[in-house]
Parts: sequence; C-alpha cells; structure tokens
Amino acid sequence: KARTVLLATEKAFAADAVSKIEAVTSAAGYKLVRLENYKSKDDLLKAVADADAMIIRSDKVDQAVLDKAAKLKIVVRAGAGYDNIDLKATEGKGVVSMNTPGQNANAVAELVFGMMITSARNNYDGTSGFELVNRSIAFYGFGAVARAVHKLAQGFGMKSFAYDPYIPAEKIAEMGATPVATVAGLFEHQYVSLHVPLTDETKASINKALLMKMPKGGTLINTARCEVVHEADMVEVFKARQDFCYLCDVAPDDKAAKEAMAAAVGDKFGKRLIFTAKKMGAQTLEANDNCGVAAANQIVAFFEKGETRFALKA
Ligand code: 3PG
Repeated sequence: KARTVLLATEKAFAADAVSKIEAVTSAAGYKLVRLENYKSKDDLLKAVADADAMIIRSDKVDQAVLDKAAKLKIVVRAGAGYDNIDLKATEGKGVVSMNTPGQNANAVAELVFGMMITSARNNYDGTSGFELVNRSIAFYGFGAVARAVHKLAQGFGMKSFAYDPYIPAEKIAEMGATPVATVAGLFEHQYVSLHVPLTDETKASINKALLMKMPKGGTLINTARCEVVHEADMVEVFKARQDFCYLCDVAPDDKAAKEAMAAAVGDKFGKRLIFTAKKMGAQTLEANDNCGVAAANQIVAFFEKGETRFALKA
C-alpha cells in the first residue's frame, strides 16, 4: 500500500509550494493528504490516524497526536524551530523527527529589515526618522537566520556583533561580525536581534535588567519565539523608557499580555511596538517552497534510503 504523507498546516503554505510538495511525494509513489487551515485539534487527531509521515509548521505534535498516529514513522517540521514537537514523546514512540534548517532564513532576514525600517521611519507618519547606516546590530544566536540578517546589515553599512554559545569567537569574526563574550554584552548595542531557540534556558530570559542596559533608541527585534521575552518585564521597560522599541513577529498568544504592552506604549502609529498579525517570518512563496520541498525530500530519502541527516534529539 502506498505511503501516506499528511501535510498538517494550521497556517497554510502558498498553493504553489503545495503543488511542489505533491510533485515530490507523487514521484515517490506516495499519497499526499492535505489538512490545511484546520481549526481544531480534533481535525488533526482524526487525520493523523492514516499517516506514515507528517509535514508540519508550528503545529503541535504532542503525546495526544502520537497516541492517534498508529502508523507514523517520521515527522518533519518544515522550518527551523522545533519547540512544537515533543521530542521525548516522538522518541518514546520510535518516530523520527526532523527540521529543515536554513530554508526560511532569507525570508526572516528580509522581515527583520522591513520592521527595522518601518520603526526607523516612524511608520511613515510624516515625521523625521533616522537611517540604519553606521548603526549597530547585535545577534543573540548566530545560526542561519542571524547570518542572513548580518549579510543584509553589511549591505546597509551597519556594524554587526554576535554571541552564540555554540560557535567559537574566531568563526564569528571570520564571518565579519564582532564576537561578544556574554549575552549582557549584546545589549550595549542599539539593535538586538534574537535568533535563539525556545529552551528551558532561553525561556523568559530577555528581562528588564538586560533591556534597561540598551543605549538610547534601544530596539529589540524578535523573530524567534515570543516566550523568550519576559512579558511582564517588557511592559515595565515600556513604561520606564519612552525611547525603547520592540519589533516582534511573534505576538504573545496571551491577549492580555499583548494589550498590556500596547497600553504601556500608547503608540498610535506603531513605531515603538510592532506585532505581526500571525507569525510572518517564513510566510513567503520562496520560504514555503524551500521548507516544504525540503521536508518532502527528507521524507522520501528517509523511507527509500534510511537517510536521517536532519534527525533531532530530545
Ligand atoms: C521557524 O521556526 O521556522 C519559523 O518560526 C516558521 O514558523 P511557521 O512555519 O509557523 O511560519
């Protein structure tokens, strides 16, 4: 019987990307089942029963999903961050998990600059803003996304700084950024851009002490995960500093937290606080293609050749 690949995306890919995914799965003789824009977890629980493989985005794969997934062998997160997969649970069931690192890096990097320019030009409200040239940007985490932002920053004539606990300082310097020795050291720069995964260590780690250290016009850019920022502290920082900006692609799910931040800013034109309506960093045709096709290829290579290069560990 042909293998079934379930494309379970609460936030759908562009139609063109889905066609390309289907071209990969059908060339392998697999059946692609689409569960896009689904509204309830029950829909996912029903759909997963027949799946040998799953392609997901930020969709949660937890014990409840795995309990219904009798045939599942592999789940691929079409994207970078995999905090939505319970890796202990997948490992416990012998299901392989993968991500597709780097595939949406350029899309996120372009959004970072979009938000920076919107903020620097006062959300185009007619008042005088400022230019990015000669300004400093510091990266917390220097993986594929941060490097793509760094490349654009070089084009803008900005100075880059970076801290990454897993990358030696010499390598950071080789890539044209100035290595920074500590997380706190990043917050001496006007822009700090977050590119860390959500882990026990990073959760709520961006706090008031760090944010209050930032120089005049200090701007935090978060295209990582909202949970990395200490939300109550963020409200206090907005109240204490009229110059501070938060540009965020990942608005808190918690409506009250979001409203508390907006009230503390009182910023009618959206210069100091930018929230996207839904996480938009990877929401481009190109990134959808790159991530989706990579995920489909990884599934085929796994079944046909036992390829596990991008397998994740708990
Ligand atoms: C990622 O980690 O790759 C991004 O956050 C993209 O998430 P999305 O697929 O839900 O847009």
